[in-house]
Amino acid sequence: MLRAVLRTLGHSALRGPRQQVFALGSRGWCNGGGGGDGGGEGRCGPPRAGDGRACFTTPIFYVNAAPHIGHLYSALLADALARYRRLGTELPQGPDPAASLVRFSTGTDEHGLKIQQAAAAAGLTPSELCDRVSAQFRALFQEAGISVTDFLRTTEARHRRAVYHFWEVLRARGLLYKGLYEGWYCASDECFLPEGKVAWRPGPDGESRPVALESGHPVCWTKEENYIFRLSQFRDPLRQWLQDDPQAITPDPFRHTVLQWLEEDLPDLSVSRGNSHLYWGLPVPGDPTQTIYVWVDALVNYLTVIGYPDSEHKVWWPTTHHIIGKDILKFHAIYWPALLLGAGMTPPHRIYVHSHWTVHGQKMSKSLGNVVDPLTCLDRFTVDGFRYFLLRQGVPNWDCDYYEQKVVKLLDAELADALGGLLNRCTASSLNPTGIFPVFSTSCFPSMEGVTVAPTKAQPEDYALVRSVSALPLQVKSYYENFQIYKALEAVSTCVRQTNGFVQRNAPWKLNRENLADAQWMDTVLHVTLECLRVFGTLLQPVTPALADRLLSRLGISETERGLQDIGFLARYYGQPCPFEGRRLGPDTGLLFPRLDKSRARLAKVHST
Ligand code: ME8
Ligand code: MG
Repeated sequence: MLRAVLRTLGHSALRGPRQQVFALGSRGWCNGGGGGDGGGEGRCGPPRAGDGRACFTTPIFYVNAAPHIGHLYSALLADALARYRRLGTELPQGPDPAASLVRFSTGTDEHGLKIQQAAAAAGLTPSELCDRVSAQFRALFQEAGISVTDFLRTTEARHRRAVYHFWEVLRARGLLYKGLYEGWYCASDECFLPEGKVAWRPGPDGESRPVALESGHPVCWTKEENYIFRLSQFRDPLRQWLQDDPQAITPDPFRHTVLQWLEEDLPDLSVSRGNSHLYWGLPVPGDPTQTIYVWVDALVNYLTVIGYPDSEHKVWWPTTHHIIGKDILKFHAIYWPALLLGAGMTPPHRIYVHSHWTVHGQKMSKSLGNVVDPLTCLDRFTVDGFRYFLLRQGVPNWDCDYYEQKVVKLLDAELADALGGLLNRCTASSLNPTGIFPVFSTSCFPSMEGVTVAPTKAQPEDYALVRSVSALPLQVKSYYENFQIYKALEAVSTCVRQTNGFVQRNAPWKLNRENLADAQWMDTVLHVTLECLRVFGTLLQPVTPALADRLLSRLGISETERGLQDIGFLARYYGQPCPFEGRRLGPDTGLLFPRLDKSRARLAKVHST
């Protein structure tokens, strides 16, 4: 059996204690060995309660090819989480974004063999390729409204400083040694593979060649002297971490996958390459003949963006949430936590994992020519439309299939017809000629269901609506906390449908404004509907920020009344004053979301004339 062979050489770079004990301290994950980086206090245990800080990260993306919808999806998931978090946080006053309690970073992974080879193939220098493609990622994320507070490139000086520091800490703690590393290497995936993960397949010339079983990318046999990280020491500490913190990796099936991996062989990990064949990267400190393994380089980005090695990082690190695709789970859930424990730090607070987008049932790939360009999608479906689609249809647990008709159908049904139609109907001048947020009548809709004294109008289904929308904010909160944004959107959409049913059932257009009782009920129906819309608009902000802004502005809700703490649904029903009642509605009467499939809109128009 061929598998990575490790042979420690006599002249290893070992220094410091050879064996370290990594154990769970009484206050959380601590290094039992001592002598680590970054001091003792504040490093272990959860972030201080009530502090409100949170840090969200996306993977940093390879710059070998232009971004596709998969990359955008990761960034959108992280963006929605960051935006939701901001909605619930009192932002500190002042213009300094660095003072914000919510940090959110993305960036580009620019070193390594993959990029070196892609640049050569494109006839560019690596740094030309990096500049070009990194700018494409930056432009895409800006266009899509990804609200990052930092965009990191691994070629930046601040990152080099962080990686060197991290490397030195591992070395000083005796976790790196020089040895002969031998095994299959996949440049495309930038990883070593055990024999069992390699298959022989015919290449374009018909000759059989070795490829990575999972990705299908070509692999090469590599044998060289490298620096090696004592990964094998970390199997028990990693298991312990996942046992003690069952939420560390979400959704749960991915945690099980990792626990399964930890049952298997966990050999030490080669963390450098000879610079004769890998020159595009950071040289090993003190040994310029070796280049640091691109995954070690890349993972440290999560520390660079919070100021590592300066002490600032210590308050942020325990609040970090990594959002990643399932393809890079092993790097984030095994290598990274082990490296962190090795450096005397805690594993990541949360690792949120999502599955992949396929296109017409196929994996997206350049060679198949089926890569979906996200900029074209944002243009065709609008930024908010496409954000809504990806987040509503993307289910982290399993792969999702993309095709255009699905986008059109979903957006027309949920944003144009259900939500847009509801707003349009209930703000139309035919129903609400004064353009004022209508008055709620407690006699029409008393807070006690079943009160039968006239002129009560509300029926059991109407009470059911109030209960659903009252419960919605907490439901959404729990979905966000469990990385189930699609479920949060489904819950909103269900309530939108229920609100449409409420309007349809009570048919305010059939009521006569001249009659006092009718007019009161009509205003009450409209008041309830606008209150529902206000809740939907507030909760949709993280996903469709511009659309939610238009919706809330149309309802006359000011920018300071859009936080989670401002929701207080249907205050009048609960016996409280309603700050919006009697207020002038916003002036923009345009469509909230124009239908994409214009044929049906035309048809409807023909029928109505
Ligand atoms: O792996 N569907 O970068 P990468 C959904 N540089 N998401 C997808 C996807 C798809 N079809 N394809 C890619 C790397 N992604 C490393 C990361 S982090 C320290 C270093 C997303 O450019 C998903 O998040 O190959 C996946 O994990 C990531 O892009 C991989 O991007
Ligand atoms: Mg990849």
